[in-house]
Amino acid sequence: MTVKLDFTDPDYFRDVPARLERLRAAGPIVKTRFPIIGTVWITTTYEMAGRVLKDSKNFTLRKDGQVVGLRWWMPRILRGLADNMLTMDEPDHTRLRGIVDEAFRRRAILDMEPRILALADTLAADLFADGSPADLVARYARALPLAVICELLGLPVEDRGKFMGWANTIGRVRGPISFLRMLRGLSAMRPFLEERLQAARADGGEGLIAELVRVEKEGGRISRDEMVAMVFLLLAAGSETTTHLISGSVYELLTRPRLRAWLEEDWTRANLAIEEFLRFVSPVQFSKPRHVRKDIELGGVELKAGDKIMVMIGAANMDPSANDAPETLDLERHPNRHIAFGTGIHFCLGYQLARLEGKCALKALFGRWPNLALAVPPDEIAYRPHGGLKAIETLPVVA
Ligand code: HEM
Repeated sequence: MTVKLDFTDPDYFRDVPARLERLRAAGPIVKTRFPIIGTVWITTTYEMAGRVLKDSKNFTLRKDGQVVGLRWWMPRILRGLADNMLTMDEPDHTRLRGIVDEAFRRRAILDMEPRILALADTLAADLFADGSPADLVARYARALPLAVICELLGLPVEDRGKFMGWANTIGRVRGPISFLRMLRGLSAMRPFLEERLQAARADGGEGLIAELVRVEKEGGRISRDEMVAMVFLLLAAGSETTTHLISGSVYELLTRPRLRAWLEEDWTRANLAIEEFLRFVSPVQFSKPRHVRKDIELGGVELKAGDKIMVMIGAANMDPSANDAPETLDLERHPNRHIAFGTGIHFCLGYQLARLEGKCALKALFGRWPNLALAVPPDEIAYRPHGGLKAIETLPVVA
């Protein structure tokens, strides 16, 4: 049986517990349809999510060397950029992850806190520079992660506007037309990234791009195409996702005065709170699709070799068997069993950075604007019709 659920319905996020209950009642793995991807199995529980993501014997991100979800008719530009670490199996994944792991190690990221807080503070100060109400998504939640990842990569400040435009088209794919729009964005982005890598080859420089060039010069560990795809992955994975963690958390705080007061009373509580926002918002709702390698029985269904399967992270994080009263936003929740960053070998590279950005974003924003409020009734806030992300479209605020 194929379960009919429209994950691109903007109203989906208004009614999550009821819809998930229906979905879970159909079993831990159900068959559904997704735009672009087509017919696909999805997991509905926390336990099943872990089983699939940690099992690279039975599930692969490739089929005959091709990335799952990509079709023969998709242009070369997309195939080139999609050929990145997130869509690779071992041993290529291990080789590429080893190159960037060092830059994202805990100490290096924690050392960035003062800089991230300063960036957040500057953006918060400018929030109403073009008038009030201001759209918190465009002016803050999207700008901060992009500024941070551009700095980390060593990309010039002037180029951030361009990236914001491209990132916007990537996050909006829901059907053929928006897909074509994204391809246009990607076609412009690829030569730009190649140019930046070329400049680093010639002049060196600071940041992760220069670091990749250093590794390239040592020889053998990374190809030119893999370098472009890596920078693309870091930009794409590092910006859109954190944007929606920030906007989703701000929305929840603006609509829940008691929780906001609790957090504002003591910002050392922010680490705990961010963990719960990650679970409750689940900015990334689905993992990348995997292919079933061989016929297997899992969760009461027969999966056939070649079938596609995605982990529904949003459902795992709302599973009552993992956390009590999952539909309650409890900023003091501990332990908090969530897989907002995935699990297994593709566990998010940027998890520490995202947590830190989320924390700094809330602290700078509410510190600067203690009277910050929504400019419209909460039920007018709309989610993007995009099945993969839980993304608030615009968040008009006043101070
Ligand atoms: C709240 C923010 C974020 C969320 C919710 C998130 C979520 C995820 C998830 C669920 C995956 C695994 C996908 C899968 O297995 O199919 C992933 C992978 C990844 N994320 Fe994040 N992410 C966030 C922020 C970031 C940031 C700031 C970066 C920084 C560069 C980043 C870089 C990556 C990379 C490179 C991968 C692929 C890792 C691999 O294949 O080994 N993410 N992320």
